[in-house]
Amino acid sequence: MVNTKWWKNEVVYQVYPRSFQDTNNDGIGDLNGITQHLDYLKQLGVTMLWISPVYRSPMVDMGYDIADYQAIDPQFGTMADFDHLLAEAKKRGLKIIMDLVVNHTSDQHMWFKQALADPQSKYRDYYIFKTPANGQVPNNWRSIFGGSTWTEVPGEPGTYYFHTFAPQQPDLNWENPQLRKAIYQMINWWLDKGISGFRVDAITHLKKDLDWASIEPDGKDGLAAVVKKGQNRPGLAKFLLELKAQTFDRYDALTVGEAYGVAAADLPKFIGPNGYFSMMFDFSYLNIEMKNVDEWYRGRSNWTVKELKTTIFNSQQATKAAGGWSANVLESHDQQRTLSKLVPNPKFQTPTAAKALATMYYFLPGVPFIYQGQELGMKNFRRQRIDQFKDISSLNNYQTGIKEGLSATEALAIVNFKSRDNARTPMQWTDATYGGFSTTTPWLEMGNDRAGINVAAEEQDPASVLNYYRQMVALRFQAPYQAVIVDGAFEQVTSPDNVIAYRRRQAEQELVIAVNLGETAATVTLPKDYQVVLSNVAVTVTNQQVELPPYAAVILTTK
Ligand code: NOJ
Ligand code: CA
Repeated sequence: MVNTKWWKNEVVYQVYPRSFQDTNNDGIGDLNGITQHLDYLKQLGVTMLWISPVYRSPMVDMGYDIADYQAIDPQFGTMADFDHLLAEAKKRGLKIIMDLVVNHTSDQHMWFKQALADPQSKYRDYYIFKTPANGQVPNNWRSIFGGSTWTEVPGEPGTYYFHTFAPQQPDLNWENPQLRKAIYQMINWWLDKGISGFRVDAITHLKKDLDWASIEPDGKDGLAAVVKKGQNRPGLAKFLLELKAQTFDRYDALTVGEAYGVAAADLPKFIGPNGYFSMMFDFSYLNIEMKNVDEWYRGRSNWTVKELKTTIFNSQQATKAAGGWSANVLESHDQQRTLSKLVPNPKFQTPTAAKALATMYYFLPGVPFIYQGQELGMKNFRRQRIDQFKDISSLNNYQTGIKEGLSATEALAIVNFKSRDNARTPMQWTDATYGGFSTTTPWLEMGNDRAGINVAAEEQDPASVLNYYRQMVALRFQAPYQAVIVDGAFEQVTSPDNVIAYRRRQAEQELVIAVNLGETAATVTLPKDYQVVLSNVAVTVTNQQVELPPYAAVILTTK
């Protein structure tokens, strides 16, 4: 089927269902909560929702450990609630994509349970088991959530199963054609329901080096990161091409790859005209704070705006060279809030700065993704104790940090800053105790710093972050800007170190975006005289120059 790229015009909103809206007062967000807010999302102007996992799950990794791909977890509601959500979304012209987690399942999945209960069953080969002759762990690979990638099978001393993530997330054996077929059937079952596609989890992990050999350790634990032997390895292409042909292509579905470890030279294979996916997340600037994306305990990185700028431009260049499309993200359920991360000085963590960061990424070529609460300028929390965290990787990073020699205070400070829970606090609808999210204690404590940061307050304030997002989103659908925002060429505009500036061009239409991420004012010399389309503070353009106060952002167009 010809890839029509119908998805180029979408603006996607990521819902983290657990924290969006609780409608039955158990402290956990649910599917009906999403349905309840469809009009809010429509008004924001987004066209598509990505729903993080709502499948049946023991929630060890908050749903990224799936026990049944074709059932809704009772915490979130029922399949009828899902069908209702899909229908109500459709009525409003909103599309839905789901999360596809097929590198691993939960250890509670029927397949894994059968594999353990009966080593002769066909399900044994759905997973990866090894029984080394010496009875030792098969190799020294370190899982992404810390510790060995191997766990001994209960009741079978000397036999181990493999997991890239937590022990409760055994990896599926993609070498097995029967397993692959079962996965394709499941995917097509969802596509037949009428969803528009998938966000594809951890997809570069499907292929592992089949020598299963130990490698040079890279930590005090004597282990080496699993990504070196189990991420974007030779042979992955075969799986991804077959996956696409057997499923997505048949429906012209949208797919967004969470595809870590792809070298620029390989981008054409992933997102080129016949790539494995419609697009891939561009994590480059999102991860600027991460020295190593999964090993937070190693501390903060001292990035500069200049580096951030180079990162954005290099990444756009690589995507363009690949003839591809990027999925542009500022926040997700896997990262702290952008305002707390990318604005180092708390004094400047203001609505103005939230709008500046929004402007920086929203007009880049590609499809913008907005993570729930980002449109309000939500911030990180501050926790006093490690038991206030729920996220498995936060808890593991804390422990690893301590093992590597950090004090409890140091480890807590890092986890406070980097924890994924920062983005998972309940959505702030109102200024009520539980933010209008629930009437009972939520599954995860609310954020601390939330005065004025909620939908009810921001709706009333024309200058709120929310209303700024609404305007930005609307621009994308408005003549004469739509064509240049969606298809316009992209080029860097020379600017002072702390200013990120770029130009989009399409025929006669031009936009210049300039954002000052520094703490002092900066002047940008423009290629031409322009006029202001939108800005977060009052700015004037004179003699082809615009002066930007700290955290000022402006979108300009030809006069
Ligand atoms: C990426 C997901 O975004 C993250 O939340 C999860 O922990 C891992 N993949 C494992 O599925
Ligand atoms: Ca609920």
